[in-house]
Amino acid sequence: MNTSTEQKLEKIRAGRDLSVSDVCSIDELTVKDIELIFDLAREFKKSGTEKLTLLKGTTVFNAFFEDSTRTRSSFELAGKNLGADTINISGSNTSLKKGETMLDTTETLNALGAKALIVRTSKAGMPQFLAQHVRAAIISAGDGWHEHPSQALLDTFTITEKFGSLKGKNILITGDILHSRVAGSLMRAVLKLGGALRIAAPATFVPRGLEKVFPCKVFFDVEEALKGADVVYTLRVQEERGANGFIPTLREFSKAFGVSEKRFALANKDALLMHAGPVIRDIEVHSALVPHSRSMILTQVENGLAVRKALLWLLCDRCDKRVKDFQTL
Ligand code: CP
Repeated sequence: MNTSTEQKLEKIRAGRDLSVSDVCSIDELTVKDIELIFDLAREFKKSGTEKLTLLKGTTVFNAFFEDSTRTRSSFELAGKNLGADTINISGSNTSLKKGETMLDTTETLNALGAKALIVRTSKAGMPQFLAQHVRAAIISAGDGWHEHPSQALLDTFTITEKFGSLKGKNILITGDILHSRVAGSLMRAVLKLGGALRIAAPATFVPRGLEKVFPCKVFFDVEEALKGADVVYTLRVQEERGANGFIPTLREFSKAFGVSEKRFALANKDALLMHAGPVIRDIEVHSALVPHSRSMILTQVENGLAVRKALLWLLCDRCDKRVKDFQTL
């Protein structure tokens, strides 16, 4: 017997499905896909951490070859709340260390009956490559400097929850754009959902020709960029990707681009402060702003659980359909 939550979720989902079987880039998703994910996430959010049976008997692997706190625990909890068997593997304890390729590792997990593989890797494009070779649904949990699609989905879900829609909203992303996969997915998602994109960063942190790929207004003065902003999305300096070589010092970066209470007051009165985490306090954002009444940092984490449940439920089912297609060939 389904719980009342499951009945509500089935009703929201009736007659609707994703157009994709993997989620490796925001580019692959249609607006309808995103609306379906958001509609389910709203219901999942109401259910909190209620134990459901939607993925009972399903195996999901979290394969994280780079460090993570939020994304890994969020996907793990999402799987467990849905009734799946979730298994975590990380770079330091796999046979990759013995020389096995990422594809052979992935095919091994696929052979163990995985319905979904959540992959975090330093190699841009690796999730798409793996998705071409295995039946399990591949969900990118971040690939190199490229994309982090589930982060952008939870970010835009959070903005939608607060403002109803992104249409016409000025979304400012500030900080280390160049090395940020969070920015890579968020820029795509903001534009797809009708937001107006602003970028504020030192010139060395702005990829050459950015405006041609992602229509946006680039500012080299964060105070100018903040005026009229509805969302202020701060990015940390990605030191693990060599970002320190692109700025004089972290202190200089913080002085010129760090978002303080005084600077945040330049944005619109109801503006949201956002950050994917981990926050490096007093560098990209001042410590006093982290618990601000309009800081969404922990709301983003909470919403991540709901959005990832929606993704897992939809994609594990897609995997079942893909297996059937394979069998009938
Ligand atoms: N936002 C994010 O990706 O955080 P983690 O690195 O902790 O997963």
